[in-house]
Amino acid sequence: MRAISQAQPNIALVKYWGKRDVENNLPATGSLSVTLDALWTRMSVEFDDQPGPDTLLVNGAEQPTMLPRVRRCLDDIAGAERPAARIESECNFPIAAGLASSASAFAALATAASKANGRRSDRLSLARAAGRASGSAARSLYPGFVELEVGPDNINLSTLATPEQWPLTVTVAVTEAGSKPVSSSAAMIISRQTSPFYEAWVERQPEDLSAAREAVAARDFAALAAVAEHNCLKMHSVMWSSRPSVVYWNSATLAALESVRRMQDRGDAVFFTIDAGPQVKVVSLPEMATEVADQLRKTAGVIDVLQSGLGDGARIL
Ligand code: PMV
Repeated sequence: MRAISQAQPNIALVKYWGKRDVENNLPATGSLSVTLDALWTRMSVEFDDQPGPDTLLVNGAEQPTMLPRVRRCLDDIAGAERPAARIESECNFPIAAGLASSASAFAALATAASKANGRRSDRLSLARAAGRASGSAARSLYPGFVELEVGPDNINLSTLATPEQWPLTVTVAVTEAGSKPVSSSAAMIISRQTSPFYEAWVERQPEDLSAAREAVAARDFAALAAVAEHNCLKMHSVMWSSRPSVVYWNSATLAALESVRRMQDRGDAVFFTIDAGPQVKVVSLPEMATEVADQLRKTAGVIDVLQSGLGDGARIL
């Protein structure tokens, strides 16, 4: 009745921004990400023998605001008549701050809950359950470079290259420790309803996905850098042009982008991406990792630097 899992966050290089179906949390477009290695969520799920209130501890503290989403995900996996669950989660990086903690959390939750409930679920079913809770979480079930495709009524996922096949490094410049002002789900709805750029964003997503897919297949760093930066800035243009506007950046976010541009001007193999938060994620070849961390630490307003290679999908410990 108890299972413990681990999942790592993933960082999208071609972003998911917008829902085709809010009820089933079905993304409007596909996306492509890398699963990380060094940042993790570990989760224990234990079912009682009868129904009752669920409890949730995150890093030892009760989390009543996250409980409704967690409960829905458990109902989805174990059925609404399920016994009460005791969930304990531990995370080695800041949560709800644009570091994809909900991706690792819901990937870990789906994995542990289905095992604790005695279900033998395949990876795709777990990914779909995680994805109904948090769209990006589906990708954290898979290792390395992951493509999420959206079919007529569900998502499909595949690994395009394993971490061993193309070992890149992701360095995160943390520019703010607090949680974000607007949730990504709320912001996506505002974008779809109000941004004049939203339809163009959805329409042009297949061409970015195919460019990124080809870059991964060819291990072409420059091509991946070009499409990932373009796709990131395009997503933020959609957010900025929404009403009310959604601006997650701060001055240190821009300073970190300038640091990346300086490295690129010297010919370094690095590129940036930014999600629904002010943190800047810098992707590089592993041999550049120390230099990238040094440059980001020196950047005004950067309060911490985290680094990770690419890693595996969610698993039972
Ligand atoms: O999975 P959600 O609902 O937290 O949305 C994630 C959206 C982005 O991180 C901005 C992009 C992505 O593809 O991960």
